[in-house]
Amino acid sequence: MRIADILLTWYKECKRDLPWRKDKDPYKIWVSEVMLQQTRVEVVKSYFERWMERFPTLESLAGAREEEVIQYWQGLGYYSRARNLLEGVREVSVSYGGQVPETKEEVVKLAGVGDYTAGAILSIAYNKQEPAIDGNVLRVFSRLYCIDGDISSPVVKKQIRELVEREISFDYPGDFNQALMDLGATICIPKVPRCPICPLQKQCLGKEKGLQQQLPVKKKKTPPLPVRLVAGVLQQGEFFLLRQRPAKGLLAGMWEFPAVEIQAEEDAIAVFRQIFLCETGQEVELQSLLFKCTHTFSHRKWDISFYHCTGSPGNIPTGSRISWVNKRDWGKLSFAGPHRKMADFFVENRKKILQNR
Ligand code: ADE
Repeated sequence: MRIADILLTWYKECKRDLPWRKDKDPYKIWVSEVMLQQTRVEVVKSYFERWMERFPTLESLAGAREEEVIQYWQGLGYYSRARNLLEGVREVSVSYGGQVPETKEEVVKLAGVGDYTAGAILSIAYNKQEPAIDGNVLRVFSRLYCIDGDISSPVVKKQIRELVEREISFDYPGDFNQALMDLGATICIPKVPRCPICPLQKQCLGKEKGLQQQLPVKKKKTPPLPVRLVAGVLQQGEFFLLRQRPAKGLLAGMWEFPAVEIQAEEDAIAVFRQIFLCETGQEVELQSLLFKCTHTFSHRKWDISFYHCTGSPGNIPTGSRISWVNKRDWGKLSFAGPHRKMADFFVENRKKILQNR
């Protein structure tokens, strides 16, 4: 029997009863997949149900205010997911008449939709033969085909994608993808897989060779380089000084509070003042520490401290890359990673911050 047939038979009998599996509305599938990107299924269930009571259709979400959308996301974390979802849904409302498009090309262009999410939406909602390959599927296939190359390498990922494309069910690609998700979540789990109850145990080359616990192989990554930064929060009434990062490199084109990198032995505050003076011709004083956080990228780990600044910021020459932005418009900007955290912190704690000044 083909792998797809075995999986589909197993799925029919054993699939998890999940609220987003009740119908094939592409909007609902989309929301569930975005929620599931960094959050466990058990947690997502209640958020998803509450969300669908408030935003039952794509148009109801597209017409909602961002603050309310964020409220309904509160607790799921990684708020950029909610912002992107809202942006993507609005794109569909404006450019596709409210119908989620049916081609991979179009779907991956929507905000926040990557290869995996596009594959899940297209296969589950529209029955397209598109794989939806996440970490679970990589693990299942690396065992099934006894692939011992580094699972994070593009070559191995491509190899697995080709295998999934070969195996995917022609008639029920959505169920095939979801069966793989369930198998990876409940049976072909990390560390000690539950092979004795696996429907694919006879087909599994990794099991045949006794290598199921060694697979997948994941090369240890070099840890990200720690980088210390200081950022200044300059305020004039409702306006804050923000600048846009260069068009190339880390967080290209995104907005941030003016920030500088600090070397190990340097006096952070003195360095910030000096560089700020060089770049803007203005003196500033760093007053109180407002907020501190870390943010890990693939190769760097930022440890960033945001200080409330005073001085004569009114004279700063602004241009297209540095400008005073009304707080009201922050929602429209794409902030660079931890700078969004700072902006969110400010909005949530505004009263307390003003009292402490
Ligand atoms: N994880 C990601 N997507 C999922 C889905 N559609 N069902 C179950 N688990 C998932």
